[in-house]
Amino acid sequence: MVVLKSVSEVRAWRRRVRADDASVGLVPTMGAFHQGHLSLIRRAVADCDVTAVSLFVNPTQFGRGEDLESYPQDLERDVELASREGVDVLFAPPTANMYAEGYATWVEVERLTTGLCGRFRAGHFRGVTTIVLKLLNVVQPDRAYFGEKDYQQLAVIRRMVQDLDLECEIVGMPTIREPDGLAMSSRNAYLSPEQRRAALVLPRSLTKARQLIESGQRSAGKVLRAVKSRFAAEPLASLQYAEIVDPDTLEPVERCDRDVVIAAACLVGDTRLIDNQMVKLRERA
Ligand code: PAJ
Repeated sequence: MVVLKSVSEVRAWRRRVRADDASVGLVPTMGAFHQGHLSLIRRAVADCDVTAVSLFVNPTQFGRGEDLESYPQDLERDVELASREGVDVLFAPPTANMYAEGYATWVEVERLTTGLCGRFRAGHFRGVTTIVLKLLNVVQPDRAYFGEKDYQQLAVIRRMVQDLDLECEIVGMPTIREPDGLAMSSRNAYLSPEQRRAALVLPRSLTKARQLIESGQRSAGKVLRAVKSRFAAEPLASLQYAEIVDPDTLEPVERCDRDVVIAAACLVGDTRLIDNQMVKLRERA
């Protein structure tokens, strides 16, 4: 595996790969790898002739007062893990290489970015789509891999790729969880043991919600009340939002009589956690 730091090095690498006619996979990350990241990497390595992983803690997707400065970083460990998985290129640019002096161009996906996390993280998705488009432009992958853990991010990126006619297949991958159900996240490292226990209210309340829908509850309001009451019983966690939305448009639904996504965000201390569950009803409704 080679570690490349500059856009020009990646472009030169890409030109050589193109001459070989090899398929290229890209896994964009912010590092501090856990099993969620590794599941994307493994799938890319299995699917594609060559695999690039980008590691860039993208400052433009962090809001004021968010955790940009304290975001977990361990390049040495990430390099070791990626190389063990058979990654060919790790692209880890310095910030100045992605956002040079005078940088002024942004990508904004409308509608899909205004609800859910967009309500609480102004400008976040603009930062995400801008960096992901830049990475797709630099690496020019045939396929790029993203986790369903960040469901809204995945939907927004799919929309951008479609709207801007990018020639790249977006592959969504299932959420990898700890044995007790908490979705893996680099931010879980911030939690104290007590907070770690309290954080379970997030996956458990969403599982409860999914079960209510699967057993016939059609009122989104009633399902969400069950989520809220679970949070009310957990003083260390505060619910930011819980919503039941259409899987494509992310618009809230009133009745759960088709496939829906239940998505929620909460704060445990200063740590913001998100999770979601897809409910497939198919013809059963
Ligand atoms: P990051 O949080 O590092 O996540 C990188 C990729 O791993 C994302 O596609 C995310 O959805 C996926 N992922 C995270 N936790 C996962 C889990 N438990 N199971 C499965 N997949 C998981 O998401 C970002 O970085 C950034 O916003 C990025 C897309 C790199 C743009 O900066």
